[in-house]
Amino acid sequence: MSSIFVIGSQWGDEGKGKIIDYFSEKANYVVRFHGGNNAGHTVINQYGKFPMHLVPSGIFSQAVACITNGVVLDLEVLISEIEMLKEAGIDLKGKLYISPRCHIILPYHKLLDKIYEAAKGSAKTGTTGRGIGPVYADKVSYNGIRLSDLLDKKKLTQKLQVQLAIKNKIIEAFGEKSLQLREVETELLKSVKPLTPYIHEPYGLLIKASKTKKQILYEGAHGVFLDNDWGTYPYVTASTVLTGGINAGTGMSVQNDLKVIGVVKAYTTRVGAGPFPTELLDKNGDKLRASGAEFGTTTGRPRRCGWLDTALIRFASEINGYTSLAITKLDILDSFKEIALCTGYTYKGKKVQYYDGDAEFLAQVKPVYKTMKGWLSSTKGLTTFAQLPKPAQTYIKEIEKLTGIKVSHISTGPERHAIIER
Ligand code: GDP
Ligand code: IMO
Ligand code: MG
Repeated sequence: MSSIFVIGSQWGDEGKGKIIDYFSEKANYVVRFHGGNNAGHTVINQYGKFPMHLVPSGIFSQAVACITNGVVLDLEVLISEIEMLKEAGIDLKGKLYISPRCHIILPYHKLLDKIYEAAKGSAKTGTTGRGIGPVYADKVSYNGIRLSDLLDKKKLTQKLQVQLAIKNKIIEAFGEKSLQLREVETELLKSVKPLTPYIHEPYGLLIKASKTKKQILYEGAHGVFLDNDWGTYPYVTASTVLTGGINAGTGMSVQNDLKVIGVVKAYTTRVGAGPFPTELLDKNGDKLRASGAEFGTTTGRPRRCGWLDTALIRFASEINGYTSLAITKLDILDSFKEIALCTGYTYKGKKVQYYDGDAEFLAQVKPVYKTMKGWLSSTKGLTTFAQLPKPAQTYIKEIEKLTGIKVSHISTGPERHAIIER
């Protein structure tokens, strides 16, 4: 059976959690491999409604869930998520594996996130404030503390001493209160205790699964345009969001037999700062936000809203080798008389591509629109393509034409089975 990678194709919040929960019904393993609790995936199924930040969204199925080495962990958030799942009757014994190689988000990472954002003023990224940039910076500069370090008190003390000596200098310089070794250490040792039954390197399980053709579902977080290299830098996140991130973040080589499903919201949203060519600052934008309940799962911030941008999806598909698209939230467009689709961009009168420039360039491109007829009827909960009103079918087919990639799934509601499989 092919393994599957579910990846966000815009600026996050495309509805990956819902699609992952749906695919997990047939998966043997479900894997979170990058990012941290800056991700917020809403899952709605027979157990209830869950905001998932670290534990894979596929945990509600028979699949074994793995948090692999590429993920950065806020231990308190992880513990409270595990508690939430236990309370909902999800038994995690033998079902959750966490890599000891995961880097830990420490209190100074969150403080530094705040300090950097404040120092940048109006040029700030608009991060989630979860310490993501600083923890990945420590990882790549060999200053990180990993989960395995927490299992050896002497090693932990030594590493914390060095890091606090460096970090406290910056923290104090910016007028914040310095952190005390004993306090930080005591908290960490307390937090790691309830997690010890789950700490076990998932690599062995996954390599065996891949050799025996078991299905691994890789759960992408964020979205292609938040990727640290190919997103709208510096308005991005710190991890590699792309298909290539799976190899580094799990140890699995996935060049053979991987379905890459790009999740695309039927319109576009973005949280935080950065360019957004099809953003709507008018009543259509407000209407998308209100009907789509576009408020962040992680921070509750209102999401910026705009029309679907197929120039982005074309690029996302090329760079990640998409096998198909899953369109979500089609039902949110039900009450629009007209819907605009961005087919490409111009810059100073010339046709340009997403990759031709940086974030400042993208802020200046002009989107070219094709106006599509709305369908003005409910698509909520529909499960076959034939049931869709004709203009909705045309909208989907136009997306396929403009992106050059087939649409295999269309989501028509937040619940697991509100989906059309073609
Ligand atoms: P993720 O971060 O990509 O997993 O997306 P979020 O969970 O942050 O945001 C997507 C929101 O849309 C969630 O509240 C989902 O429950 C909801 N959702 C997902 N698919 C659909 C859909 O097809 N229709 C509607 N109305 N809501 C959806
Ligand atoms: P999911 O998985 C939407 C955005 C933040 C900010 C930028 C950097 O739910 O789709 P960070 O805290 O990562 O340093 O913030 O990235 N961002 C997301 N936006 N959905 C997400 O995840 C995001 N993860 C990061 O808003 O602009
Ligand atoms: Mg989200």
